[in-house]
Amino acid sequence: MATETSTRSTTSATTGSEWWRTAVIYQIYPRSFADASGDGIGDLPGITGRLSSLAELGVDAIWLSPFYTSPQNDAGYDVADYCDVDPLFGTLDDFDRMLETAHSHGIRVIVDLVPNHSSDQHRWFQAALAAGPGSEERDRYTFRDGRGENGELPPNNWQSVFGGSAWSRVTEADGEPGQWYLHLFDSSQPDFNWDNRWVHEQFLDVLRFWLDRGVDGFRVDVAHGLIKVEGLPDWAPPVEGGSMGGGSASLEPEISAEPEGAATLPPYWAQEGVHEIYREWRELLDSYDGDRALCAEAWVDPLPKLAKWVRPDEMHQAFNFVYLETPWKASALRTVIDDSLDAFGEVGAPSTWVLSNHDVVRHASRLALTADNLQGHGIGPKTKGLPDPVVGLRRARAATALMLALPGSAYLYQGEELGLPEVIDLPDEARQDPTFLRTNGERYGRDGCRVPIPWEAEAPACGFSETGESWLPQPAGWGAFARSEQRGVDGSTLELYRQMLALRAEHGLGLSTLKWLQTESDDVLAFTTAGITVMANIGTTDAALPSGASIILASAPLDGDVLPPDTTVWLR
Ligand code: GLC
Repeated sequence: MATETSTRSTTSATTGSEWWRTAVIYQIYPRSFADASGDGIGDLPGITGRLSSLAELGVDAIWLSPFYTSPQNDAGYDVADYCDVDPLFGTLDDFDRMLETAHSHGIRVIVDLVPNHSSDQHRWFQAALAAGPGSEERDRYTFRDGRGENGELPPNNWQSVFGGSAWSRVTEADGEPGQWYLHLFDSSQPDFNWDNRWVHEQFLDVLRFWLDRGVDGFRVDVAHGLIKVEGLPDWAPPVEGGSMGGGSASLEPEISAEPEGAATLPPYWAQEGVHEIYREWRELLDSYDGDRALCAEAWVDPLPKLAKWVRPDEMHQAFNFVYLETPWKASALRTVIDDSLDAFGEVGAPSTWVLSNHDVVRHASRLALTADNLQGHGIGPKTKGLPDPVVGLRRARAATALMLALPGSAYLYQGEELGLPEVIDLPDEARQDPTFLRTNGERYGRDGCRVPIPWEAEAPACGFSETGESWLPQPAGWGAFARSEQRGVDGSTLELYRQMLALRAEHGLGLSTLKWLQTESDDVLAFTTAGITVMANIGTTDAALPSGASIILASAPLDGDVLPPDTTVWLR
């Protein structure tokens, strides 16, 4: 080992003031984090009460999935009032208290913004329904007349990400079937019309509302979807390779070849027009004091295209989902790390690494799946190639130890610090993801990564809720993962995360430069960063550790001078 082959650094940043370049940000999925009210759904006071655990873990910031007024058809991503808290989660005062407490712990707070669609219960959509065809109110959303003799066919062939048509027909005031509205997601989530200036103004107000309250930034939902191609043309996804299969829309752009061979994107994802919107938002954020950040949820591939979202006058971060989707293979990981640092480096942005969130199979299970799992499909009892939990956790710990050594920022998803797996055997009646419901159970959807997390092994609902209520049932054995069982326990996943975050901060790994090292096996990745050598064995046989190295962190127990399979070490 130890011949340097190439060098990659993260960004052109020279100061530490741009916290988002290196921050480790912990995603809180409020309904599953901590329930103070006892109704089985997590809430803001629950979060406030548990923030000291996150301070102890060592995260720099938290991102909260939506807690706004909502009928909860898509777990809050169907917003009925962007400037209020749903009573399920508490009140605006509870939010302020949570924010203040987080800040007092030195933890920044990012909230979720859902600008592609609202709930159909939002007063704007209700007004659009009432006002009728041709009205100003309707122009705020994406209404069209249907095709066919009597408008009985949807305006185009687009499919919802959650399955089924992306169009629903309304009944007009006269009681007759009328126009159709677009919903790239559930029928209760009508898409806005971002060609309408009024919509821009409303969202600028929403941003101001939360910035004035003191939030440190926004995670922007479906940030690749706001602008659709004019005329809303039909879209024929490629027969093979569409990541949601079956002709349905995917969160990821599917590329198809036009007759003359030119690649095109689906007419609803990653259109150039979205960038203007983010430039406007960036200007607004820049007019505030402090250093506030925008993070794009944009399922965009390839990386140089995704990097457009984080050009200097646009957003600050964009989740690197290309990395998240990379299989547990050394060559693929090395390529995606290089490509990421190159693509984001090109525009002066950090790469924003991520392995889990509330939409994907938890990486402690995903990394041991033996078959492909399409994004959003989820896994359940009938899935082929179910993961071995021991292999999965071992790989997850190694993968996280690799990720947290990389230059840039990283997001963690609540519960991964406990090594939580995907819950596979949720009863069908308990499942709530619209994906499950809209595909008649053909896709299990995302409930398996959303089960309320365990805090204390012996407490009701493992400490999630004093009453023992839990909106999704916690599986038998959940208590074994509880914080209470791992805190202070050498070698536990929680202590490993704590150690990684402390060392990462101490050595400034987020802002460092990565230099690849040659290794004896193609299955072993090795690099140096900030004076630390990182080695990850992604193969199936032991690899030799450099003699005399002192190990400062290991994702699995070591025995002698060997690095076992599915293990990452940090050495000095
Ligand atoms: C994003 C969210 C997902 C939600 C969808 C529609 O992808 O992360 O949970 O269902 O947008 O808002």
